[in-house]
Amino acid sequence: MENDETLSSSFFSYDVKSFHRISFDQRQIVEAMVDKNIVGHGGSGTVYRIELSNGDVVAVKKLWSRKTKNSASEDQLFVANELKTEVDTLGSIRHKNIVKLYCYFSSLDCNLLVYEYMPNGNLWDALHKGKILLDWPIRHQIALGIAQGLAYLHHDLKPSIIHRDIKSTNILLDINYQPKVADFGIAKVLQARGGKDSTTTVIAGTYGYLAPEYAYSSKATTKCDVYSFGVVLMELVTGRKPVEAEFGENKNIIYWVSSKVETKEGAMEVLDKQISRLFKDEMINVLKIAIRCTFKAPGQRPTMNEVVQLLIEADPCRFDTCKSSNKTKETENLTKTTNPYDL
Ligand SMILES: Nc1ncnc2c1ncn2[C@@H]1O[C@H](COP(=O)(O)OP(=O)(O)OP(=O)(O)O)[C@@H](O)[C@H]1O
Ligand SMILES: [Mg+2]
Repeated sequence: MENDETLSSSFFSYDVKSFHRISFDQRQIVEAMVDKNIVGHGGSGTVYRIELSNGDVVAVKKLWSRKTKNSASEDQLFVANELKTEVDTLGSIRHKNIVKLYCYFSSLDCNLLVYEYMPNGNLWDALHKGKILLDWPIRHQIALGIAQGLAYLHHDLKPSIIHRDIKSTNILLDINYQPKVADFGIAKVLQARGGKDSTTTVIAGTYGYLAPEYAYSSKATTKCDVYSFGVVLMELVTGRKPVEAEFGENKNIIYWVSSKVETKEGAMEVLDKQISRLFKDEMINVLKIAIRCTFKAPGQRPTMNEVVQLLIEADPCRFDTCKSSNKTKETENLTKTTNPYDL
Protein backbone atom coordinates (compact mmCIF):
# COMPACT_ATOMS: atom_id res chain seq x y z
CA MET A 1 0.00 0.00 0.00
CA GLU A 2 1.60 3.21 -1.10
CA ASN A 3 -0.35 5.74 0.79
CA ASP A 4 -2.24 4.06 3.54
CA GLU A 5 -3.65 6.86 5.56
CA THR A 6 -6.98 7.49 7.14
CA LEU A 7 -8.19 11.05 7.00
CA SER A 8 -11.34 12.61 8.20
CA SER A 9 -13.10 15.45 6.60
CA SER A 10 -15.29 17.30 9.01
CA PHE A 11 -17.27 18.81 6.14
CA PHE A 12 -18.35 15.51 4.63
CA SER A 13 -17.58 13.21 7.55
CA TYR A 14 -16.01 10.54 5.35
CA ASP A 15 -13.18 8.23 6.29
CA VAL A 16 -10.80 7.89 3.40
CA LYS A 17 -8.49 5.04 2.60
CA SER A 18 -6.19 5.60 -0.33
CA PHE A 19 -4.19 2.88 -2.12
CA HIS A 20 -2.42 4.63 -4.94
CA ARG A 21 -0.33 7.78 -5.17
CA ILE A 22 -3.21 9.84 -6.34
CA SER A 23 -5.08 12.48 -4.48
CA PHE A 24 -8.79 13.11 -4.65
CA ASP A 25 -10.79 16.03 -3.65
CA GLN A 26 -13.62 14.35 -1.79
CA ARG A 27 -15.87 17.33 -2.17
CA GLN A 28 -15.36 17.33 -5.95
CA ILE A 29 -16.31 13.67 -6.09
CA VAL A 30 -19.36 13.96 -3.89
CA GLU A 31 -20.60 17.02 -5.78
CA ALA A 32 -20.22 15.24 -9.13
CA MET A 33 -22.37 12.31 -8.04
CA VAL A 34 -25.38 13.56 -9.97
CA ASP A 35 -27.73 11.78 -12.38
CA LYS A 36 -26.09 13.01 -15.56
CA ASN A 37 -22.85 11.29 -14.54
CA ILE A 38 -24.41 7.87 -13.89
CA VAL A 39 -22.96 5.11 -16.10
CA GLY A 40 -25.03 2.29 -14.66
CA HIS A 41 -26.65 0.52 -11.76
CA GLY A 42 -25.83 -2.93 -10.48
CA GLY A 43 -26.77 -5.26 -7.69
CA SER A 44 -24.45 -3.46 -5.31
CA GLY A 45 -24.85 0.19 -6.19
CA THR A 46 -24.70 3.00 -8.72
CA VAL A 47 -21.60 3.86 -10.74
CA TYR A 48 -20.73 7.42 -11.78
CA ARG A 49 -18.18 8.68 -14.31
CA ILE A 50 -16.44 11.63 -12.71
CA GLU A 51 -14.01 13.96 -14.40
CA LEU A 52 -11.74 15.66 -11.90
CA SER A 53 -10.51 19.22 -12.34
CA ASN A 54 -7.01 17.97 -13.25
CA GLY A 55 -8.51 16.06 -16.21
CA ASP A 56 -8.32 12.59 -14.63
CA VAL A 57 -11.45 10.48 -15.00
CA VAL A 58 -12.51 8.02 -12.29
CA ALA A 59 -15.41 5.65 -11.76
CA VAL A 60 -17.12 6.01 -8.39
CA LYS A 61 -19.33 3.23 -7.11
CA LYS A 62 -21.79 4.26 -4.44
CA LEU A 63 -22.81 1.11 -2.63
CA TRP A 64 -26.49 0.92 -1.75
CA SER A 65 -27.07 2.15 1.74
CA ARG A 66 -29.63 0.16 3.63
CA LYS A 67 -31.78 2.44 5.65
CA THR A 68 -32.97 0.75 8.79
CA LYS A 69 -34.77 2.17 11.77
CA ASN A 70 -31.66 1.78 13.79
CA SER A 71 -28.97 3.42 11.67
CA ALA A 72 -26.09 1.80 13.53
CA SER A 73 -27.65 -1.63 13.18
CA GLU A 74 -25.57 -4.75 13.63
CA ASP A 75 -26.03 -5.42 9.93
CA GLN A 76 -24.58 -2.10 8.81
CA LEU A 77 -21.64 -2.40 11.15
CA PHE A 78 -20.99 -5.89 9.83
CA VAL A 79 -20.95 -4.62 6.25
CA ALA A 80 -18.73 -1.65 7.12
CA ASN A 81 -16.18 -3.81 8.91
CA GLU A 82 -16.17 -6.53 6.29
CA LEU A 83 -15.84 -3.96 3.54
CA LYS A 84 -12.84 -2.38 5.22
CA THR A 85 -11.07 -5.72 5.36
CA GLU A 86 -11.93 -6.57 1.76
CA VAL A 87 -11.02 -3.16 0.48
CA ASP A 88 -7.61 -3.37 2.15
CA THR A 89 -6.94 -6.55 0.20
CA LEU A 90 -8.28 -5.23 -3.09
CA GLY A 91 -6.36 -1.98 -2.77
CA SER A 92 -3.07 -3.84 -2.46
CA ILE A 93 -3.54 -5.88 -5.65
CA ARG A 94 -1.63 -4.92 -8.78
CA HIS A 95 -2.25 -6.78 -12.03
CA LYS A 96 -2.77 -5.56 -15.58
CA ASN A 97 -6.05 -7.46 -15.82
CA ILE A 98 -7.54 -6.37 -12.51
CA VAL A 99 -9.27 -3.03 -12.23
CA LYS A 100 -7.43 -0.62 -9.91
CA LEU A 101 -9.14 0.47 -6.76
CA TYR A 102 -7.82 3.94 -5.96
CA CYS A 103 -9.53 4.58 -2.69
CA TYR A 104 -12.45 4.01 -0.43
CA PHE A 105 -14.60 6.60 1.31
CA SER A 106 -16.99 5.64 4.05
CA SER A 107 -19.45 7.50 6.18
CA LEU A 108 -22.17 6.21 8.46
CA ASP A 109 -24.75 5.73 5.73
CA CYS A 110 -22.70 5.63 2.55
CA ASN A 111 -19.73 3.75 1.08
CA LEU A 112 -17.91 5.00 -2.01
CA LEU A 113 -15.31 3.08 -3.99
CA VAL A 114 -13.13 5.01 -6.44
CA TYR A 115 -11.79 2.97 -9.38
CA GLU A 116 -9.87 3.65 -12.54
CA TYR A 117 -12.38 4.47 -15.28
CA MET A 118 -12.73 2.00 -18.15
CA PRO A 119 -13.73 3.88 -21.30
CA ASN A 120 -15.03 0.87 -23.23
CA GLY A 121 -17.54 -0.22 -20.61
CA ASN A 122 -18.24 -3.83 -19.83
CA LEU A 123 -17.99 -7.00 -21.91
CA TRP A 124 -21.73 -7.75 -21.73
CA ASP A 125 -22.58 -4.47 -23.43
CA ALA A 126 -19.76 -4.92 -25.96
CA LEU A 127 -20.98 -8.39 -26.94
CA HIS A 128 -24.71 -8.12 -26.61
CA LYS A 129 -25.43 -4.44 -27.26
CA GLY A 130 -22.22 -3.68 -29.14
CA LYS A 131 -22.18 -0.89 -31.62
CA ILE A 132 -18.87 -2.13 -32.93
CA LEU A 133 -18.09 -5.75 -33.66
CA LEU A 134 -15.34 -7.37 -31.60
CA ASP A 135 -13.48 -9.66 -34.00
CA TRP A 136 -11.93 -12.96 -32.97
CA PRO A 137 -8.34 -11.80 -32.19
CA ILE A 138 -9.78 -9.16 -29.82
CA ARG A 139 -12.14 -11.68 -28.21
CA HIS A 140 -9.24 -14.07 -27.76
CA GLN A 141 -7.16 -11.30 -26.18
CA ILE A 142 -10.06 -10.59 -23.83
CA ALA A 143 -10.42 -14.28 -22.89
CA LEU A 144 -6.71 -14.64 -22.21
CA GLY A 145 -6.55 -11.42 -20.17
CA ILE A 146 -9.46 -12.46 -17.94
CA ALA A 147 -7.85 -15.89 -17.48
CA GLN A 148 -4.54 -14.28 -16.49
CA GLY A 149 -6.26 -11.98 -14.01
CA LEU A 150 -8.08 -14.93 -12.43
CA ALA A 151 -4.98 -17.13 -12.44
CA TYR A 152 -3.21 -14.36 -10.51
CA LEU A 153 -5.99 -14.24 -7.90
CA HIS A 154 -6.13 -18.04 -7.59
CA HIS A 155 -2.50 -19.07 -7.85
CA ASP A 156 -0.18 -16.13 -7.20
CA LEU A 157 -1.79 -14.63 -4.11
CA LYS A 158 -1.52 -16.26 -0.71
CA PRO A 159 -4.16 -16.77 0.50
CA SER A 160 -5.77 -17.03 -2.88
CA ILE A 161 -8.80 -14.92 -3.73
CA ILE A 162 -11.98 -16.37 -5.18
CA HIS A 163 -13.87 -13.83 -7.24
CA ARG A 164 -17.34 -15.42 -6.79
CA ASP A 165 -19.08 -13.18 -9.30
CA ILE A 166 -17.44 -13.68 -12.69
CA LYS A 167 -19.80 -12.55 -15.43
CA SER A 168 -19.47 -10.39 -18.50
CA THR A 169 -20.74 -7.22 -16.78
CA ASN A 170 -17.87 -7.56 -14.32
CA ILE A 171 -15.29 -7.58 -17.11
CA LEU A 172 -14.39 -4.01 -18.00
CA LEU A 173 -12.59 -2.97 -21.17
CA ASP A 174 -9.84 -0.35 -21.33
CA ILE A 175 -9.07 1.92 -24.24
CA ASN A 176 -7.31 -0.95 -26.10
CA TYR A 177 -9.99 -3.51 -25.24
CA GLN A 178 -7.73 -5.14 -22.70
CA PRO A 179 -9.98 -6.72 -20.09
CA LYS A 180 -9.94 -5.86 -16.39
CA VAL A 181 -11.71 -8.01 -13.86
CA ALA A 182 -13.86 -5.94 -11.50
CA ASP A 183 -16.01 -6.40 -8.43
CA PHE A 184 -14.35 -9.21 -6.55
CA GLY A 185 -14.24 -9.47 -2.81
CA ILE A 186 -17.04 -6.98 -2.53
CA ALA A 187 -19.32 -9.75 -3.79
CA LYS A 188 -18.40 -11.84 -0.76
CA VAL A 189 -19.36 -9.12 1.66
CA LEU A 190 -22.60 -8.38 -0.11
CA GLN A 191 -23.48 -12.03 -0.34
CA ALA A 192 -22.88 -12.41 3.36
CA ARG A 193 -25.29 -9.56 3.80
CA GLY A 194 -27.62 -11.22 1.30
CA GLY A 195 -27.70 -14.29 3.51
CA LYS A 196 -29.28 -12.18 6.21
CA ASP A 197 -31.78 -10.57 3.93
CA SER A 198 -33.39 -12.63 1.24
CA THR A 199 -34.69 -9.55 -0.57
CA THR A 200 -31.25 -8.61 -1.90
CA THR A 201 -30.66 -9.62 -5.50
CA VAL A 202 -26.91 -10.19 -5.41
CA ILE A 203 -27.14 -13.93 -6.06
CA ALA A 204 -30.02 -13.58 -8.51
CA GLY A 205 -27.95 -11.12 -10.56
CA THR A 206 -25.48 -13.89 -11.28
CA TYR A 207 -28.08 -16.33 -12.62
CA GLY A 208 -26.65 -18.20 -15.59
CA TYR A 209 -23.06 -18.07 -14.32
CA LEU A 210 -23.30 -19.96 -11.02
CA ALA A 211 -21.56 -23.31 -10.72
CA PRO A 212 -24.14 -25.95 -9.74
CA GLU A 213 -22.31 -26.94 -6.56
CA TYR A 214 -22.09 -23.28 -5.50
CA ALA A 215 -25.78 -22.73 -6.10
CA TYR A 216 -26.61 -25.71 -3.89
CA SER A 217 -23.99 -25.46 -1.15
CA SER A 218 -23.00 -21.76 -1.36
CA LYS A 219 -19.44 -22.90 -0.69
CA ALA A 220 -17.22 -20.98 -3.09
CA THR A 221 -14.02 -22.52 -4.48
CA THR A 222 -11.65 -21.50 -7.25
CA LYS A 223 -13.43 -24.09 -9.43
CA CYS A 224 -16.65 -22.06 -9.13
CA ASP A 225 -14.77 -19.16 -10.76
CA VAL A 226 -13.50 -21.54 -13.46
CA TYR A 227 -17.11 -22.52 -14.21
CA SER A 228 -18.32 -18.91 -14.43
CA PHE A 229 -15.33 -18.08 -16.61
CA GLY A 230 -16.35 -20.96 -18.91
CA VAL A 231 -19.75 -19.32 -19.35
CA VAL A 232 -18.05 -16.03 -20.30
CA LEU A 233 -15.90 -17.95 -22.81
CA MET A 234 -19.08 -19.37 -24.34
CA GLU A 235 -20.48 -15.83 -24.64
CA LEU A 236 -17.28 -14.78 -26.45
CA VAL A 237 -17.39 -17.70 -28.89
CA THR A 238 -21.12 -17.75 -29.60
CA GLY A 239 -22.10 -14.10 -29.07
CA ARG A 240 -25.08 -15.48 -27.11
CA LYS A 241 -26.25 -14.58 -23.60
CA PRO A 242 -25.96 -17.17 -20.80
CA VAL A 243 -29.73 -17.58 -20.75
CA GLU A 244 -31.92 -17.10 -23.82
CA ALA A 245 -35.50 -18.17 -24.53
CA GLU A 246 -34.28 -20.10 -27.59
CA PHE A 247 -32.34 -22.53 -25.39
CA GLY A 248 -35.61 -23.86 -23.93
CA GLU A 249 -37.28 -23.54 -20.56
CA ASN A 250 -34.77 -23.66 -17.68
CA LYS A 251 -31.97 -24.30 -20.18
CA ASN A 252 -28.79 -22.28 -20.34
CA ILE A 253 -25.96 -21.72 -22.80
CA ILE A 254 -24.05 -24.73 -21.46
CA TYR A 255 -26.92 -27.07 -22.23
CA TRP A 256 -27.44 -25.43 -25.64
CA VAL A 257 -23.74 -25.72 -26.60
CA SER A 258 -23.43 -29.31 -25.40
CA SER A 259 -26.53 -30.36 -27.31
CA LYS A 260 -25.20 -28.78 -30.50
CA VAL A 261 -21.59 -29.94 -30.48
CA GLU A 262 -22.55 -33.57 -30.84
CA THR A 263 -22.22 -33.08 -34.60
CA LYS A 264 -19.66 -31.09 -36.58
CA GLU A 265 -22.40 -29.03 -38.26
CA GLY A 266 -23.92 -28.30 -34.85
CA ALA A 267 -20.55 -27.09 -33.55
CA MET A 268 -20.25 -24.73 -36.54
CA GLU A 269 -23.77 -23.44 -35.85
CA VAL A 270 -22.97 -22.21 -32.35
CA LEU A 271 -20.05 -20.01 -33.47
CA ASP A 272 -20.91 -16.31 -33.62
CA LYS A 273 -22.01 -15.78 -37.22
CA GLN A 274 -20.72 -12.21 -37.21
CA ILE A 275 -17.15 -13.47 -37.08
CA SER A 276 -15.20 -14.53 -40.15
CA ARG A 277 -15.20 -18.30 -40.75
CA LEU A 278 -11.43 -18.02 -41.15
CA PHE A 279 -11.20 -18.24 -37.37
CA LYS A 280 -13.48 -21.26 -36.99
CA ASP A 281 -10.76 -23.70 -35.89
CA GLU A 282 -9.48 -21.38 -33.18
CA MET A 283 -13.02 -20.66 -32.05
CA ILE A 284 -13.77 -24.39 -31.81
CA ASN A 285 -10.62 -24.85 -29.74
CA VAL A 286 -11.77 -22.15 -27.32
CA LEU A 287 -15.25 -23.69 -27.25
CA LYS A 288 -13.64 -26.96 -26.14
CA ILE A 289 -11.89 -25.13 -23.30
CA ALA A 290 -15.20 -23.53 -22.32
CA ILE A 291 -16.87 -26.94 -22.21
CA ARG A 292 -14.17 -28.29 -19.91
CA CYS A 293 -14.45 -25.25 -17.63
CA THR A 294 -18.18 -25.87 -17.24
CA PHE A 295 -18.00 -29.58 -16.47
CA LYS A 296 -20.49 -30.47 -13.76
CA ALA A 297 -17.86 -32.12 -11.56
CA PRO A 298 -15.55 -29.39 -10.19
CA GLY A 299 -12.59 -31.81 -10.11
CA GLN A 300 -12.78 -32.30 -13.87
CA ARG A 301 -12.52 -28.58 -14.59
CA PRO A 302 -9.02 -27.24 -15.35
CA THR A 303 -7.29 -24.78 -13.02
CA MET A 304 -6.98 -21.18 -14.20
CA ASN A 305 -3.24 -21.71 -14.81
CA GLU A 306 -4.13 -24.59 -17.13
CA VAL A 307 -6.75 -22.46 -18.85
CA VAL A 308 -4.16 -19.72 -19.50
CA GLN A 309 -1.91 -22.32 -21.12
CA LEU A 310 -4.73 -23.74 -23.26
CA LEU A 311 -5.76 -20.26 -24.39
CA ILE A 312 -2.17 -19.39 -25.36
CA GLU A 313 -2.16 -22.53 -27.52
CA ALA A 314 -5.43 -21.39 -29.12
CA ASP A 315 -4.07 -17.91 -29.95
CA PRO A 316 -5.07 -17.02 -33.53
CA CYS A 317 -1.97 -14.82 -33.82
CA ARG A 318 0.42 -17.39 -32.44
CA PHE A 319 2.54 -17.72 -35.57
CA ASP A 320 1.76 -14.43 -37.16
CA THR A 321 1.16 -10.82 -36.35
CA CYS A 322 -2.51 -10.77 -37.23
CA LYS A 323 -3.95 -7.59 -35.90
CA SER A 324 -7.44 -7.75 -37.23
CA SER A 325 -9.70 -10.14 -39.04
CA ASN A 326 -7.78 -9.85 -42.34
CA LYS A 327 -6.28 -13.24 -41.64
CA THR A 328 -4.92 -15.11 -44.63
CA LYS A 329 -5.40 -18.74 -45.58
CA GLU A 330 -1.76 -19.47 -44.77
CA THR A 331 -2.19 -18.09 -41.28
CA GLU A 332 -5.19 -20.29 -40.82
CA ASN A 333 -3.13 -23.37 -41.59
CA LEU A 334 -0.30 -22.29 -39.36
CA THR A 335 -2.49 -21.57 -36.36
CA LYS A 336 -4.19 -24.94 -36.38
CA THR A 337 -3.52 -26.41 -32.96
CA THR A 338 -4.02 -29.96 -31.91
CA ASN A 339 -6.34 -29.95 -28.98
CA PRO A 340 -5.98 -32.81 -26.53
CA TYR A 341 -9.61 -32.55 -25.50
CA ASP A 342 -11.99 -34.05 -27.99
CA LEU A 343 -15.57 -32.92 -27.82
N1 LIG B 1 -14.38 1.20 -13.30
C1 LIG B 1 -15.40 1.37 -14.17
N2 LIG B 1 -15.22 2.06 -15.30
C2 LIG B 1 -16.25 2.22 -16.18
N3 LIG B 1 -17.47 1.71 -16.02
C3 LIG B 1 -17.71 1.01 -14.90
C4 LIG B 1 -16.70 0.80 -13.91
N4 LIG B 1 -17.22 0.03 -12.91
C5 LIG B 1 -18.49 -0.23 -13.28
N5 LIG B 1 -18.80 0.35 -14.46
C6 LIG B 1 -20.10 0.29 -15.16
O1 LIG B 1 -21.14 0.60 -14.27
C7 LIG B 1 -22.25 -0.25 -14.47
C8 LIG B 1 -22.74 -0.80 -13.16
O2 LIG B 1 -21.71 -1.61 -12.60
P1 LIG B 1 -21.98 -2.51 -11.34
O3 LIG B 1 -20.73 -3.23 -11.02
O4 LIG B 1 -22.60 -1.67 -10.28
O5 LIG B 1 -23.10 -3.47 -11.87
P2 LIG B 1 -23.04 -4.90 -12.52
O6 LIG B 1 -21.65 -5.30 -12.84
O7 LIG B 1 -24.04 -4.86 -13.65
O8 LIG B 1 -23.62 -5.82 -11.41
P3 LIG B 1 -22.95 -6.21 -10.00
O9 LIG B 1 -23.39 -5.16 -9.03
O10 LIG B 1 -23.51 -7.53 -9.70
O11 LIG B 1 -21.47 -6.18 -10.19
C9 LIG B 1 -21.82 -1.31 -15.47
O12 LIG B 1 -22.45 -1.03 -16.68
C10 LIG B 1 -20.35 -1.15 -15.61
O13 LIG B 1 -19.96 -1.29 -16.96
MG1 LIG C 1 -20.08 -5.08 -11.58
